[in-house]
Amino acid sequence: MTQATNQSWGGRFSEPTDAFVAAFTASIAFDKRLYHHDIRGSVAHATMLARVGVLTDAERDRIIDGLGEIEAEIERGEIEWSVALEDIHMNIEARLTDKIGVTGKKLHTGRSRNDQIATDIRLYLRDEIDAVAAELTRLRSGLIDLAEAEADTIMPGFTHLQTAQPVTFGHHLLAWQEMLARDHERLLDCRKRANVLPLGAAALAGTTYPIDRHVTAELLGFDRPAENSLDAVSDRDFAIEFTAFASILLMHMSRMSEEMVLWASAQFDFVDLPDRFCTGSSIMPQKKNPDVPELVRGKTGRVYGHLMSLLTLMKSQPLAYNKDNQEDKEPLFDTLDTVKGCLRAFADMAPALKAKPESMFEAARRGFSTATDLADYLVRAGVAFRDAHEIVGKAVAFGIEQGRDLSEMTLDELKQFSDAIGDDVFEVLTLEGSVAARNHIGGTAPDQVRAAANRARDALNALQESRHGA
Ligand code: ARG
Repeated sequence: MTQATNQSWGGRFSEPTDAFVAAFTASIAFDKRLYHHDIRGSVAHATMLARVGVLTDAERDRIIDGLGEIEAEIERGEIEWSVALEDIHMNIEARLTDKIGVTGKKLHTGRSRNDQIATDIRLYLRDEIDAVAAELTRLRSGLIDLAEAEADTIMPGFTHLQTAQPVTFGHHLLAWQEMLARDHERLLDCRKRANVLPLGAAALAGTTYPIDRHVTAELLGFDRPAENSLDAVSDRDFAIEFTAFASILLMHMSRMSEEMVLWASAQFDFVDLPDRFCTGSSIMPQKKNPDVPELVRGKTGRVYGHLMSLLTLMKSQPLAYNKDNQEDKEPLFDTLDTVKGCLRAFADMAPALKAKPESMFEAARRGFSTATDLADYLVRAGVAFRDAHEIVGKAVAFGIEQGRDLSEMTLDELKQFSDAIGDDVFEVLTLEGSVAARNHIGGTAPDQVRAAANRARDALNALQESRHGA
């Protein structure tokens, strides 16, 4: 089983590559998605080569026109990818040489596939990061709007999944928003380190041609050329960083998912997920399943897996480029597809969450969620906190026995636990009083939630403006 030797390196070989080996080592099946960025990199490279006199202007123009035609052919689905040509770089170069003859063979002057692929992935990832950032912005902004609308909606807050203290639904949504704000920062930070130009490193040591890497960097919108040629062809930190960002983001989204799944259950009954984000059961007619959050929760696992793949891929690799690096693409691409899909689903769904305020309120009332407020009340009346804790504990035990919340007891009943309790106690035992009293930055008081929503919106807008200025 043999086949024609790949002509771009066949000169040294005395027998053709085994057909299975050719297929085994080829990456065209998955790196073809880099075609646009590969061509973009080649156009910049040819432009730079002409600027420094390595190509004539006429050669540059022929190359650029040819590449433009090839891009159109690819987009029309006319190109047949060849496994014998291994990867996207050689498929495009071979097509260029078919089209424009010997000039096509000059494109690779002063370049190697090692710096070429490193450049392609960075260019591609940069565009994808911008697309991810746009979806993240849409999700954050939907959550901020919903939080503002639900600033007065009272629900139980939990610790250990046990009713703890009342909070507002808006406050809870803004907690999600904070997680995503940190993820957004991590994403933009990763973009900075991805936005560096490997091209010019050539195979590993640089090139003997009088190249100008600042020109290429500028043409491609990179902040600067990578400092060291060995590092430039071998570094895949940016892919690991992106996948780490994605893992943390999906960890957050899995927590949001879990809460949505719980809240949409008959047992909690806190929210209604719009039907368009749910599916039914083929056997149980009553079912409405929260598939979207469940699936996002599930997809978190595959992204963690990709992070582990990439870390392990790079572990112990000697400098500089190794063929191992070809294995960076599938985990990175799947991470991108997964993150974009999850964000899109959430950006559509989260703002459409319908709170069920009565049901949330009832749940908060049932769980002795104002017990801490009673303790704080006693402290204000001069009781030491530890004693107050003990007193309220006894009152709660009595409430459990009686099947009544603290706010449902009479003043006399409450007074049997402490003389310090007066008839103003009911103000702190109501859920509204409890949330309103947490009136400081970061607290759950409705006024604070509205102010926090405004600050979050301003911060998001400022981030957008700084990105567009960049
Ligand atoms: N397909 C390769 C990759 O994805 C491109 C670089 C190959 N370089 C080489 N010398 N074989 O990493």
